[in-house]
Amino acid sequence: MNKEISVYNKLYDVVRRNLFVLGVVAVLSILVAFLNVYLIKFEKEITDAAILKNKGLFKGLLIGVLVIICLKIPVEYIKAYLFGKFAEKTLMDLRIEISKKLIFSPINFIEKNAAGDFISRLTSDISIVAGFFTSALDQLLYHPVVFIIGLIYAIHLNWKMTLISFAIIPITILIAFIISKPVERFTKKQQDLYGNTNAIFQDIISGISVIKVFKLERYFYKKFENSLLKSFSEGLKSAKVETLLEPVKTIIQLGPVLLVILTGGAMVMKKQLTFGGLMAFIELMNIFIAPMNILPNIINSYRKAAAASKRLNEILSQYLEESGSEKGFDEYEYAVEFEDVWFSYENDLEKAVLKNFNLKIKRGEKIAFVGSSGCGKSTIVKLILGMYKPQKGCVKVFGIPTSRWNLYSLREKISVVNQDIYLFPDTIFENIKYGRYSATYEEIIEAARKSEIHEFIMSLPRGFETELKEGSVNVSGGQRQRIAIARAILRSSDVYIFDEATSALDADSENNILKTLNNSLKGKTIITIAHRFSSIKNVDRIIVIDRGTVAEEGSHDDLLCKKGIYYQLYTAQLMNELV
Ligand SMILES: Nc1ncnc2c1ncn2[C@@H]1O[C@H](COP(=O)(O)OP(=O)(O)OP(=O)(O)O)[C@@H](O)[C@H]1O
Ligand SMILES: [Mg+2]
Repeated sequence: MNKEISVYNKLYDVVRRNLFVLGVVAVLSILVAFLNVYLIKFEKEITDAAILKNKGLFKGLLIGVLVIICLKIPVEYIKAYLFGKFAEKTLMDLRIEISKKLIFSPINFIEKNAAGDFISRLTSDISIVAGFFTSALDQLLYHPVVFIIGLIYAIHLNWKMTLISFAIIPITILIAFIISKPVERFTKKQQDLYGNTNAIFQDIISGISVIKVFKLERYFYKKFENSLLKSFSEGLKSAKVETLLEPVKTIIQLGPVLLVILTGGAMVMKKQLTFGGLMAFIELMNIFIAPMNILPNIINSYRKAAAASKRLNEILSQYLEESGSEKGFDEYEYAVEFEDVWFSYENDLEKAVLKNFNLKIKRGEKIAFVGSSGCGKSTIVKLILGMYKPQKGCVKVFGIPTSRWNLYSLREKISVVNQDIYLFPDTIFENIKYGRYSATYEEIIEAARKSEIHEFIMSLPRGFETELKEGSVNVSGGQRQRIAIARAILRSSDVYIFDEATSALDADSENNILKTLNNSLKGKTIITIAHRFSSIKNVDRIIVIDRGTVAEEGSHDDLLCKKGIYYQLYTAQLMNELV
């Protein structure tokens, strides 16, 4: 990924879309620069005309000055408006591009990065880049142009004096450049640290109930405080460098002006320069000094923006989830096939979760996965959904390898209730509707009935319109699972996967729901993952997974007779229940 960033700046791709407007701004900047230097020229001539007491010339020049001012105002207005449009549009495009990457990138990219880090990239990094676009870039477009035009006019006025006053400029540029270099390093570090702080804050919000129960308030508060202190000390370092820039700016400002007054005054006395010429020179000096004065800030702003862009580029150069073109067929024999599958989250087969895993699930078969915690049951689901690709072997769904599937079509054909259920902070109605957004009101009610949540919803004062809170804290764990089941069965898929979908329910409620589901999902392929054996007794085939492979398979009775792993797990649970 890093290589990709260094060779191709994705941020530039986004900026490029609005380059035309920027081009117009650049042309208008040149026009404004011309008008400003012309104004100085007219002012010089008007002063000389006044000293020579030439009334006719004075009046003519006065009209000229007024015409330039009348032209300058609308041109500057249009330029500022277009620049604002360019900056705002580019930032909007950037935000759109980043959110697109977040939503459409493969799940492992999201899982690898902390949520708080993403948020800080979306907020503080973007505002740093925005700072560069809204001020520094505008100045960069104007000042070099007016500098060159002003320089030409200055040489034309008096080349000797131009040389003298410019002697000091290269030295000051060099000093400013050297001083601002460490700012970039500190800013990158500070931004990384802020990302870290945000991640901790995110943890605190998501885990507040665990924090309270385990009395971790102080620990997390300290962790948060330490992280903030670290970014504070980095911020202080960069502030120190920034204050060092101040005296440099003062020298840059005063030096050339004093030189102009000294040498220019002497030339006026020797009649080598008119008084108007000296006035023009002092004004031209402002034009020359302005970029010198703001240059350290521009360099500083550029360096900060460059550091922030590097972090944004990491997201922007992320590949979108790869998807094939297959949309599936109606005719197929096996719903799911795993052929010699090896899979590791870390891309390291030494640490493989699935090792030479083989499994075929027939169309319409009802199967269950059993195995100790962490043996890879949920991982199998992720592979079926094409969230991850195996390093070796092949996962086929409806006869087609997941790598060739159009992932949108694949996921449309599979309904899943995940182990970690997430309900959106929205109404219960909307949450169920997310299963199939085109579903009718009646279909949603029906799905709620089948998952045995309808009665509960109707007992709420606002019924289906009840708003779920953040983290769905206003419904119980079991109610949450039933809403999720309703959401999954609303979608009429070919394959249903229930990963610990009823674990929060009591045994009776669980058996009731399973019975209803079995009746309403007749003929469909159903994969159940459960820790409670009573809920899977009636499936066609139980697959026992151990150390990344299929250790045993068969019906409940077959497996009990075998007296292997299943028998051990089953009797252990039975004993527990009896105790
Ligand atoms: N996103 C991930 N990144 C890295 N490792 C992971 C990831 N998800 C799971 N693992 C690891 O893969 C292994 C299998 O996890 P998986 O979630 O498939 O187990 P499981 O059988 O579903 O367990 P449980 O019954 O507790 O739900 C575990 O050792 C886990 O640590
Ligand atoms: Mg699991």
